Amino acid sequence: MSLKNQTSVTIKKIESSRINEVDFDTLSFGHVFTDYMFECDYKDEKWSNPTVKPYGPLTMYPGAKVFHYGQAVFEGMKAYKDDQGKIWLFRPEDNFNRINKSSKRLAIPEFPRDFFFDGLETMLNLDSDWIKQGFGNSLYIRPFVIATEEGVAAAPSKEYKFMILLSPAQAYYKGEVKVVIAEHYSRSADGGVGAAKAAGNYGAQFYPTNLANKKGYQQIIWTDANEHKYVEEAGTMNVFFRINDTLLTAPVSDRILDGITRKSVIALAEKNGIKTEVRKIKVSELVEASENGSLKEIFGAGTAAVISPVSAFSYKDKEHNLPQIKKSFASQFKKELMEIQYNITEDTFRWRYEVK
Ligand code: COI
Repeated sequence: MSLKNQTSVTIKKIESSRINEVDFDTLSFGHVFTDYMFECDYKDEKWSNPTVKPYGPLTMYPGAKVFHYGQAVFEGMKAYKDDQGKIWLFRPEDNFNRINKSSKRLAIPEFPRDFFFDGLETMLNLDSDWIKQGFGNSLYIRPFVIATEEGVAAAPSKEYKFMILLSPAQAYYKGEVKVVIAEHYSRSADGGVGAAKAAGNYGAQFYPTNLANKKGYQQIIWTDANEHKYVEEAGTMNVFFRINDTLLTAPVSDRILDGITRKSVIALAEKNGIKTEVRKIKVSELVEASENGSLKEIFGAGTAAVISPVSAFSYKDKEHNLPQIKKSFASQFKKELMEIQYNITEDTFRWRYEVK
C-alpha cells in the first residue's frame, strides 16, 4: 500500500543539518524541530505550491486572521523506526481525515490527500536521521492549518497556510500523572468545537490547568459543561477507567475528541476479551468505586502521551489514590500498541504503514 501519489512537491534543501546540536537523551517534548518543514498555501480557492523547505521563521502580517480569531486546527501523529531502520506511521489515514473534519468545523477548506501524504513522506525521508531507533523514541508530527488572510472582520479567512513540523520525542509525561476532576471550568459544550482539534480548545485549558499545576496536579479530567457530573476527556488525552476488570470510557460526541489511540485501545481490549463499556460515566460512580476499592486504574490515551497511568485524582478537594497494580491494563495496552507501532509484532488490525 502506498499513500503517496508523487505530486510535485518542491524540495528546497538545507545547507547543513542541525542534528549534531541535539542531545537525543534529554529531549523534553516538543521543543526541538528537525531540519525541514512542509508548507502549502491556499489562495484563489485552491491549495498550491506544496514545498518542503528548511525549518525557519515565517513572515506574516499581524493582520492575519489566525491572530485575531484563532482560526487554526492541528493534528498529532508519530513516526517510528524499527530495528531494520524502516520508518512506520500509525493509522495515518485517520489523522488525515480528522484534520479535514476539524477544518470543516472551523470553516477552513479541505486539504488534498496527495499533498498531505507526499509532503509528509518527503519530509520523513529527508529527516530520517532524526528518527531514533529504540522503544520509546519517535518523531512527533505536527500538521496544522492557520488563517493567513489579513483582516479583522469576523469572517472566515480566504487564505490559509498548511504546514507540517517534525519534532523528535520521547515520553510526554516524565514522572507520575495526578489529575483534578473539573468542577467549575469546562473544556467544551454541546454543539461546540470539542470534537475538533481546534488550537483554541487547548489554549483555553491553560489557565485552569495552571491552577491545577499549582496544587500539584498535572492534568484536568474535564466533565460535562452542564452539570459537571460526567467525566469526558483529559487535557491532552482521552481517558479510561478500570472498575474491577471492566474497562470504561466515555463515548465520543461533539464535545469529545475521537482519539486514534482511544479507538485502538478499545479494539485491543476487545481482542483481548476485556469487558469494555463505552458509556456515560458519573464522577460519583468513580468516587464510590475508589472508596470501595473497585477502581483499579485510570489512564490517559493519546498520540503524544501514548498510555499514561494516573496515580491519583482530586475531587472536591479530596485526593483519591489509585492502587499500584502489577498487571495493569495500562501497561498491557501500552506494550501491545507500541509493539505494533515499532513493527515488533504482527499487525492484525492493519494499522501500520511503512514510509518508503
Ligand atoms: C497529541 O497527543 O498528539 C495531541 O494533540 C496532544 C497535544 C496537545 C500534545
